[in-house]
Amino acid sequence: MPPYQHHVFFCTNERAADDPKGSCVHKGSIALHLHAKDRCFQRGLKGSVRVNKAGCLDTCAQGPAVVVYGEKDPPGGVWYTVNTTVDVDDIIQSHLVEGNVVERLKMKQNP
Ligand code: FES
Repeated sequence: MPPYQHHVFFCTNERAADDPKGSCVHKGSIALHLHAKDRCFQRGLKGSVRVNKAGCLDTCAQGPAVVVYGEKDPPGGVWYTVNTTVDVDDIIQSHLVEGNVVERLKMKQNP
């Protein structure tokens, strides 16, 4: 049995500001990651949900990139574009607590 029901990765890769590929850090991913960690802790999800930083997830144009893996999720995980703390809260409530993918935040093209 895996140690967590869900494992969540936030891309916190940073490139130079003038790099045409852009990067999730320049779209706010550090603050979004911290918000997710804080909110999961506040909601008592520590132990069942793990929230980690990740390097580039190779979906830069669709970032800030987040991927969720879980026992009941597809083997390749569920990939999200997360722009705001409201988006983070929706993923926590709908996906991590209730088990429902947040369709409005799914990436247009999964890797
Ligand atoms: S920099 Fe975030 S997916 Fe590439």
